[in-house]
Amino acid sequence: MALLAANWKMYKGPGETREFLAAFEPPDGVEVVICPPFGSLGAAVASGRTIFAQNVHWEDEGAFTGEVSTRILLELGVQGAIVGHSERRQYFGETDETVRLRAEHALAAGLRVIACVGELDEERERGETENVLRRQVSVLPEHDALVVAYEPVWAIGTGKTATPEIAQEAHALIKALLPVPVLYGGSVKPENAAELLAQPDVDGALVGGASLDVESFTAICQAATPS
Ligand code: PGA
Repeated sequence: MALLAANWKMYKGPGETREFLAAFEPPDGVEVVICPPFGSLGAAVASGRTIFAQNVHWEDEGAFTGEVSTRILLELGVQGAIVGHSERRQYFGETDETVRLRAEHALAAGLRVIACVGELDEERERGETENVLRRQVSVLPEHDALVVAYEPVWAIGTGKTATPEIAQEAHALIKALLPVPVLYGGSVKPENAAELLAQPDVDGALVGGASLDVESFTAICQAATPS
């Protein structure tokens, strides 16, 4: 079954979260996960949907201002977390090593994990995509609660989507390195979702901008239902 994850980034407080989830009815035949910002997790869990956080720390507790622990997420009823999103890597100093720590600890605590990988524009132009993906994937553990999201950084929030061929090639490489489901992320929209999701090694999508609107996220979920 395809997995469709909505990454809301720093959008939607508890009120808008409740509003969205009251109106949202995903189609049968797909698994849907909503990833709201930390402050909206409680409101999201109350909807009964599957909720993931956008990050999680590798210590159980401690003096780590601005971070959140697996314990706090589990107490809230959160079922998983995204780790290693490119915005964390670009703006908040996330490294392969901290992504490894976050992923391992979250999995050990019983959370599911979506670990993000993907090359920068200049890395693709220099022909380094394969090396970058090998490096980023090599730190991730093989685990049945782990999913990888391939998110080419040049396609995130830019409106530039990877072609289905580019996505398929990257997904096949990732799966050869680590046999887990691989989601595609980067400007997924109702108009391009079906052809991306039709690729044999695309097991779902991680959707940013187009997941903020009930209608467009529902249309993307519908594109992933078995025909
Ligand atoms: P986008 O974001 O769909 O807005 O490109 C995807 C993501 O960052 O997960």
